[in-house]
Amino acid sequence: MKQYNIAVAGATGAVGEEIFHILEEQNFPIKSVLPLSSARSAGTEITCQGKTYKCVELTEESFKGRDIDIAFFSAGGSISEKYAKYAVEAGAVVIDNTSFFRMDEKVPLVVPEVNPEDIDNWKETGIIANPNCSTIQMVQALKPLEDLYGIKRVDVSTYQATSGAGKSGMEELVNQMKDFFAFKLDESPKEAFEHQIALNVIPDIDKPQPNLYTKEEMKMVNETQKILHKNVAVSATCVRVPILRSHSESITVRFEEGVDVDLDAVRNAFENFENMKVLDDLENNIYPMPIISTDTDLTYVGRIRKDNFENNVLHFFNVADQVRVGAATNAVRIAQKWIEKN
Ligand code: A2P
Repeated sequence: MKQYNIAVAGATGAVGEEIFHILEEQNFPIKSVLPLSSARSAGTEITCQGKTYKCVELTEESFKGRDIDIAFFSAGGSISEKYAKYAVEAGAVVIDNTSFFRMDEKVPLVVPEVNPEDIDNWKETGIIANPNCSTIQMVQALKPLEDLYGIKRVDVSTYQATSGAGKSGMEELVNQMKDFFAFKLDESPKEAFEHQIALNVIPDIDKPQPNLYTKEEMKMVNETQKILHKNVAVSATCVRVPILRSHSESITVRFEEGVDVDLDAVRNAFENFENMKVLDDLENNIYPMPIISTDTDLTYVGRIRKDNFENNVLHFFNVADQVRVGAATNAVRIAQKWIEKN
């Protein structure tokens, strides 16, 4: 079996570290690993599949003569903007975790359970984009519903973990909680988020847009349409909540007129969907929660119910570990599909 030379730009970050765990868990066919970071973390040791590698500073020269097959990028949009082209020029396929290339018409935006066929278009740019974490777990739930009934409109509210802001986001929550118990929360640094995140929720993720939505909310709209290849109406409210990992979403789906939602058919469609688990027994307090999804590669759905007033409207709750399912696992799954196809 062919083995691959892998590079990870952002190797020391929350997503980068998780990519190494997943490559190892999945027994990914690795020949060698090139971990890349800023000069700050150069020299940091990364272990993958029993071998230890030293982090190297990412530069324009990093990929030259290294015969890299697959380069994962998760060091932020500006880094992908600047350096992804050098990986492509050196012959690698770039699997990019940032938002930089997602809406580029020439770049496939892929959730392997939903639109694996789009990977076939990778050659034009050499880049495959990984969607936003909130989009990934939502479209995984929307796809079986789209196939079942045809979706007209989606309204979603998110409950997003601090890990969405990288390691510094998680650290800020922990430090603020420590400072709360030391009676000095007022003095605690507030840098990763616009406001104090401990004991608070913040309905503001990413930059404000002229239409009064945030950039995170518009990512959920635009990326969902691109992945489903359909101009489905989507409205999102994205909220940061004081938890460490796993995003939750409360989702309302309106189907085409005339549809009468059958909950057994919906549960069945979710149950048969790849990498999805139904936890839906309200009587026994069984439903998806971040403490269940964290450190897993599954997307959980539950609280599945029909609207009280309209037969073509469905409500449910969904949870996934967004560092894994929403980023690292999705990226590795893209790489696996890419290998299958090439
Ligand atoms: P470093 O450890 O050197 O700062 P997170 O999303 O968890 O905040 O992680 C961001 C990742 O992106 C880290 O691996 C970080 O490396 C990397 N990174 C940040 N800035 C740069 C840069 N200018 N060049 C290369 N990698 C960078």
